[in-house]
Amino acid sequence: MKLDKIEKIERRRTEKQKTCSEVFDKQTLLSLTKMISDKIIDSVDFPISTGKEANVFRAKKDDKYLALKIYRTSTAVFKDLTKYVVGDPRFKNVKKKNVVYIWARKEYKNLKKLMELGVKVPTPVACRDNILVMEYIGTESTPAPMLKNVEIKNPEKIFKIILGFMKKAYKGGMVHGDMSEYNVLMYRRPVVIDAGQAVLLAHPLSNELLERDVRNIIRYFRKFDINVSEADALKNIRGE
Ligand SMILES: Nc1ncnc2c1ncn2[C@@H]1O[C@H](COP(=O)(O)OP(=O)(O)OP(=O)(O)O)[C@@H](O)[C@H]1O
Ligand SMILES: [Mg+2]
Repeated sequence: MKLDKIEKIERRRTEKQKTCSEVFDKQTLLSLTKMISDKIIDSVDFPISTGKEANVFRAKKDDKYLALKIYRTSTAVFKDLTKYVVGDPRFKNVKKKNVVYIWARKEYKNLKKLMELGVKVPTPVACRDNILVMEYIGTESTPAPMLKNVEIKNPEKIFKIILGFMKKAYKGGMVHGDMSEYNVLMYRRPVVIDAGQAVLLAHPLSNELLERDVRNIIRYFRKFDINVSEADALKNIRGE
């Protein structure tokens, strides 16, 4: 086919179609097919969220629902991350797409560790290439809403639970690193999601990330008249 003809077809594609082919590239479709033949999932239902770095879908296995987080292999953000590893002789086998695979696996492992530490997160089920499979949080008809979108009747209790999660994680040597009203789902009680960037306390940025997490949560709950100082919350989390 001539190049100008391809370009013409390309222009006709809707934004939606583009998003779709960006997520379901050949490799991702192959990984999904393998997940189906390995009986990890039976089918993919519908998209829950379309984000910058990843798309989340509901999937089904027997009579249970699952959530699939499919990291895009083509996003600007990852290209950005790639520059820190590609070209570094220590990572000479790391290709661009492998950085995304590492990120998906990192989120899988982080979820596992957080769960073991007693933080309520979606139970991780499997991870292959750029696809993370985890427990689906929500009802038959609707995925659980983000904290920011629910009217909470007992803000003090919810605040304490979230701070408690941060304390449990810290005690076990982990910091979530992206805590906010966007990354907590409300399903009867709070469920922490999006753990890709969680770090161990040994990480040079762990303290900074912890402080930012605390600041975000305190800021959000201030509008419910919960006025805890950052210093006090940090002391509580660090068990000082
Ligand atoms: N296990 C789950 N069950 C139900 N819904 C989920 C689950 N995990 C994620 N979601 C939904 O998908 C959205 C995006 O998930 P997540 O926060 O993990 O991705 P993200 O990294 O923020 O994506 P991006 O930054 O690209 O927007 C969440 O806000 C939530 O609505
Ligand atoms: Mg998120």
